[in-house]
Amino acid sequence: MERSKPYIILSAAITLDGKIATKCGDSKISSNKDKTRLHKLRSTVDGILIGINTVKQDDPLLTIRYVRCNHNPIRIILDSNGDIERNTRILKTSKKFKTIIVVSEKISQQNLHRLYSYPNLDIIISGKKTVDIKQLLQYLLQKYSMKRILVEGGSNINWSFVRENLFDELIITIAPYLVGGKKSISFLSGSGFLTIEDSTKLKLKTVTRLDNEIVINYVRLYHF
Ligand SMILES: NC(=O)c1ccc[n+]([C@@H]2O[C@H](COP(=O)([O-])OP(=O)(O)OC[C@H]3O[C@@H](n4cnc5c(N)ncnc54)[C@H](OP(=O)(O)O)[C@@H]3O)[C@@H](O)[C@H]2O)c1
Repeated sequence: MERSKPYIILSAAITLDGKIATKCGDSKISSNKDKTRLHKLRSTVDGILIGINTVKQDDPLLTIRYVRCNHNPIRIILDSNGDIERNTRILKTSKKFKTIIVVSEKISQQNLHRLYSYPNLDIIISGKKTVDIKQLLQYLLQKYSMKRILVEGGSNINWSFVRENLFDELIITIAPYLVGGKKSISFLSGSGFLTIEDSTKLKLKTVTRLDNEIVINYVRLYHF
């Protein structure tokens, strides 16, 4: 059967109470052992995708540093308005590491021109007000031959993939922290499903203990 999208893995490190960051945005949840595991996983994918708020909050590099690897997956940032700032590590390293900024049709001409001025940066326009993930995934498969993409959050991005049933696998590290707080950030945001029956159906594949953390790996069930 011909594929219509790349294989999508959702990945996150969560606290025992299901948060990916505190209300201040502190998301330093993973241990070094878990970071090594994550970077090994990064070395197996064609692309790493995150949302603009994660860029603003964490200023990540999205490179492979904890393990040896002679290539870097393409970095994909969903940023409807093209607001990504020039002093972010993503833009500062965009000559060295291939990067795609995905914007929507509502981007201003000024931001579009600004982004086009980066020589090695690819800009994709998808969706009217927010990025149309389904359309984007088809494009990434067809034009970039991306077969495997790792989605590393945050909460809004994760929810969009879950809501639209656009992921295949889930790899979550549960770390021994309890942060609480209504305003801390959960693995998924959005409006949520109304019933458990509506929830995505998953099958447990593996459970791995990393000292004081647990890495759980679920695959999505397509027929049940
Ligand atoms: N523990 C972990 O594993 C982990 C991993 C990653 C992030 N985090 C934490 O997560 C927090 C950020 O999460 P967040 O939910 O605020 O932001 P996010 O998911 O990183 O980014 C969300 C933004 O992406 C843009 N976007 C464009 N198209 C979208 C679409 N189709 N669906 C959803 N979003 C789309 C929207 O902004 P525009 O409308 O401006 O485009 C949206 O507000 C940070 O505190 C970060 O530290 C934790």
